[in-house]
Amino acid sequence: MPASPVPPAVVTELQRQFNQELAAAHGYQAISVWCTTQNLTGFAAFFDKQSGEERAHAKKIIDHLVDRSVDPLLAAVPQPKQDFRSLLDVAQYAEQMEQANTRGINAVYEAALTARDFPAQVLMHWFINEQVEEEAWCAELIDRVRSASCAGSLSDLDRHVVRIFSDDKG
Ligand code: FEO
Repeated sequence: MPASPVPPAVVTELQRQFNQELAAAHGYQAISVWCTTQNLTGFAAFFDKQSGEERAHAKKIIDHLVDRSVDPLLAAVPQPKQDFRSLLDVAQYAEQMEQANTRGINAVYEAALTARDFPAQVLMHWFINEQVEEEAWCAELIDRVRSASCAGSLSDLDRHVVRIFSDDKG
């Protein structure tokens, strides 16, 4: 039996959102590269992992579309920001990306509510929870980077960042 059709407004939002997740993956990869060039190998590993998680988020939506007989359309990925002034600049930029992502998720959810598309609503529940965690680690990262005022405490943070922000904050 064919799957129930996905309302067009929901398709549009889901397509846009998985491409936004891929753009975030690219954005985190660029941050990871910047950290590598600054010899911040712990942060480079942390943001590399974040990049992988964004790709996994995109895949969740792609799979949902495929399961509902919609062909996912990949858009061009915008060139990410690479010119950071400091690690604090990086942390603040990551927070901006996550806030933009939260707005994107909310827009999908709103479309799914309006169209009474229950499967997309349930899918978005996972993402809405995830965004609470994503914004929380960004805020904590900003605080920790601000507190690491000397080179020694910054290199300490670099050594431990992956452990501090372990999976439950991914
Ligand atoms: Fe896919 Fe960082 O949220």
